[in-house]
Amino acid sequence: MTASTWHYGVTARWWAEFNTDGPEIDFFRSYVEAGQPALDLGCGTGRLLLPYVRGGLDVDGCDVSADMIALCREAAEREGLAPSLYIQPKHELDLPRRYRTVFVCGALGVGSTRAEDLQAFQRVHDHLEPGGMFVLDNEVPYAEGNGWELWRPEGRATLPRLRRPPGKRRVGADGTEYELRSRVLDLDPLEQRMTLEMQAFMWRDGDLVAEDEHLLTLTLYFKDEIVLMLERAGFVDVTVRAALTDAEPTGADDFLVFTARKPALPSSGGRER
Ligand SMILES: C[S@@+](CC[C@H](N)C(=O)[O-])C[C@H]1O[C@@H](n2cnc3c(N)ncnc32)[C@H](O)[C@@H]1O
Repeated sequence: MTASTWHYGVTARWWAEFNTDGPEIDFFRSYVEAGQPALDLGCGTGRLLLPYVRGGLDVDGCDVSADMIALCREAAEREGLAPSLYIQPKHELDLPRRYRTVFVCGALGVGSTRAEDLQAFQRVHDHLEPGGMFVLDNEVPYAEGNGWELWRPEGRATLPRLRRPPGKRRVGADGTEYELRSRVLDLDPLEQRMTLEMQAFMWRDGDLVAEDEHLLTLTLYFKDEIVLMLERAGFVDVTVRAALTDAEPTGADDFLVFTARKPALPSSGGRER
C-alpha cells in the first residue's frame, strides 16, 4: 500500500483557519534560535513557520501538499512576509540551501512509509551543514486516544469502524463552517501502520459547498526505532526527551522529541610546525 495524506482542499483550509497556535511553537523556537538558517519540514500552513519568520528568524518551509503551502504563502503575504516555501515530499527533499537546523513537528510517519521516512532522514542529513541539528517530535503508538487496543486481534475484529454521525461544526473567521470526521479502517501491527478515512465538510450560509474524502496512513514508531533510523542515516549525538518539557522521558509521555546532529567536519589534521 502506498502512503497518503489528507492535507488538501477543505482540510488544508481547516488547518489554516484553526491550527494556528500551540505550545510546540515556543518549544521548537529555541532550536531555531540556536541554529539558522532553519527548515520547517512538513510545515503545513505555517503554524510554527509564520511566527518564527514574523519574529525575524531565517526559516524556510517545505511540505508535500501544494494546498497547505498555498495557504501558508497567502497568510505570509497578508503580513508582508515572503519565506521560501517548497512543495516536495520529504523523502525526495532537494533544496538549494543548506541549514543549521531542520525540524519536523507532527509530520513523521504522517502519509509516509517506513522506507520513505528513513530516506527522508538521509535527505535531511544531506541538507544540514556539518554540525547541524535535526529535531523532530513523535506521538508514541500507545498515546491516549491512538487506539492501542486495535493492535490485538479482538480489537482489529472491530475494524473498519463505522462512519461517525454528523458532529459539531467549527466556524471560521468569515462565517464558513467546517467539520472533520475520521474513522479507523485498518491497523497492521506487523507494519505498524494505521489507515484512516478522513472526511472534511464545508458549509457557507448553511449550504454544503465542499466535501472531501481522503485516506490517511500513519506509520507508528516506538522510541528506539527512531533512534536507530537516525543513526543509520548518519546522525550522531541522538537524544530523546519528553516533548515540551525537555525532561527525561518516561512511559507516561505521549510525545517524544528527538535531536540528532550531523557530524562536524573532521579537523584538518595538519601537522604542527
Ligand atoms: C499534522 S500536519 C503538521 C503541520 C505543521 N508541522 C504543524 O505542526 O502545524 C502534517 C503535515 O505533513 C505534511 N506531509 C505529509 N506527508 C508528507 C511528506 N511525505 N512530505 C512532506 N510533508 C508531508 C502534510 O501535508 C501536513 O502539512
